[in-house]
Amino acid sequence: MENKKVRIALTKGRIESKAVDILEKVGYDVLELRNKGRKLILSIPGENIEVVLAKAADVITYVEHGVCDLGIVGRDTIMEHGGKFYEIADLNFGICKFALAVKKGTDFFAGYGVKTVATKYPNVTRGYFEKKGIDVDIVKIEGSVELAPLVGLADGIVDIVETGTTLKENGLEVCRNVAPISARLIVNTVSLKLKQERVLEIVDLIKNERIRENS
Ligand code: PRP
Repeated sequence: MENKKVRIALTKGRIESKAVDILEKVGYDVLELRNKGRKLILSIPGENIEVVLAKAADVITYVEHGVCDLGIVGRDTIMEHGGKFYEIADLNFGICKFALAVKKGTDFFAGYGVKTVATKYPNVTRGYFEKKGIDVDIVKIEGSVELAPLVGLADGIVDIVETGTTLKENGLEVCRNVAPISARLIVNTVSLKLKQERVLEIVDLIKNERIRENS
């Protein structure tokens, strides 16, 4: 069995902890990952695997550029940023959705005026409304998008909804579901050719663990 070095990029935060659990269940020694401190490159002993921790959009950049062979990232980031890589598996965790939300009791689609939508995801939002043939003004917000309709900046928001608590606590509600989201395993296109055996071995281990957990 070839043992070429493989580098995996993990999205820091919520996805990271679940991804580390999966790597452990696959049989890898994740001690260094669990006790990482401020280290950003961690190794899985005996496997010739390095794990890189990065922000979601950077996971895509590292995989696209081939400095990481594999990546675990949310479909939200994939939809917003796009990129040239293979999306090889739906990992079936980090499940949430993109939704259009409005102030409770308001009708986003009422009237003829062009509506304003605040979002951290302008490309997803543009794509959604273009497909519907609806003209909207999009305002890019960096965080806590729920604030925008409350202070009168926007008629609605397109954002991630997981439990719905943030919307509820701020007097907002889902008006339309936009797209389902979950964590995805992505692969650099060249790695899949040049390190095929090793990369597919890791992909299969991860996929099989997901099948086991979800069955
Ligand atoms: C996301 C999203 C909502 C919240 C929804 O933010 O932007 O604010 O989670 O979750 P809920 O439906 O379970 O309440 P996140 O926590 O990722 O932080 P961010 O706003 O800094 O991106």
